[in-house]
Amino acid sequence: MDDEFSTRLTTRAAEAQNCLDKLLEAQPRNGEIARPERLVAAMRHGVLNGGKRLRPFLVMESAALFGAKPAAALRVAAALECIHCYSLIHDDLPAMDDDDLRRGQPTVHRAFDEATAILAGDSLLTLAFDIIANDDTALSAKAKLTLVSMLARASGLGGMAGGQMYDLDAARTAPDEAGIIRLQAMKTGALIRFACEAGPVIAGAPEPDRERLAEFGSAIGLAFQLADDLLDLTSSTEKMGKATDKDAAAGKATLVALHGADWARSQLKGLVTQATGLLAPYGSACAMLTQAAHFIAARDS
Ligand code: IPE
Ligand code: IPE
Ligand code: MG
Ligand code: MG
Ligand code: MG
Repeated sequence: MDDEFSTRLTTRAAEAQNCLDKLLEAQPRNGEIARPERLVAAMRHGVLNGGKRLRPFLVMESAALFGAKPAAALRVAAALECIHCYSLIHDDLPAMDDDDLRRGQPTVHRAFDEATAILAGDSLLTLAFDIIANDDTALSAKAKLTLVSMLARASGLGGMAGGQMYDLDAARTAPDEAGIIRLQAMKTGALIRFACEAGPVIAGAPEPDRERLAEFGSAIGLAFQLADDLLDLTSSTEKMGKATDKDAAAGKATLVALHGADWARSQLKGLVTQATGLLAPYGSACAMLTQAAHFIAARDS
């Protein structure tokens, strides 16, 4: 990994952690009645437990590319990470992937209980929209509305949650290649696409920039899940901090299962080339984003 990229990823992760820590404090915010101690603890367990913080990184770097205010970008990044962590908490539930380990620690339903994990997910999902809409996010009302709508669509029926439904369906009826690509573009790609497209929206950049960054996000989003599926096969629980070697036995519909690991590696290279090519017009200003594309394909955790 490039040194500058690795340092930046660490710095951004610490900024995100700090912001999330404050958002998940015990004291209720204006308009809230009370924050149940056990629910706050479960949410904190599911959020402040490490993680690469790649989605926050992508929001902050795509925003920086267009000269956006860093403080506003950080809050949108934190909102997105809340949705990502909610998706992981629910993904790990017994009714879904039934996993005991996440980010090297017991999953939320293991550390607490299933009902609390469901509520922690629900509360993180709604908190995300509060973070963006709130007065503390210094953006125009129009930019906030655009971001709220984009994030809702990326997270819900036609995005992440819908993709998780297709993922469950796929265990019963195997989809073809186009079906697998669609489910991955939804369950994983949609939030990563949001991360990249959010930057130009936060900065008020012109429409063609927004489209270019969204396309970049789609390409690295597909690469991200392809790498995750490859790592399920080739990596270890120690490195990943979560169970590996599960997808095949669980009958998961993945491109790795369909075409094999070698094909997946060469496909990953192609997706990185496509993604970095899209950013070529920005020259050296987008170095952190192109490094992120390489990192996604080459990561081992
Ligand atoms: C894991 O995401 C879930 C997928 C979408 C494949 P990450 O690999 O980004 O998990 P963390 O946030 O670093 O733990
Ligand atoms: C999860 O995909 C995508 C989500 C929406 C959380 P996986 O089920 O492959 O993610 P991991 O391997 O459990 O992190
Ligand atoms: Mg899953
Ligand atoms: Mg899973
Ligand atoms: Mg996986």
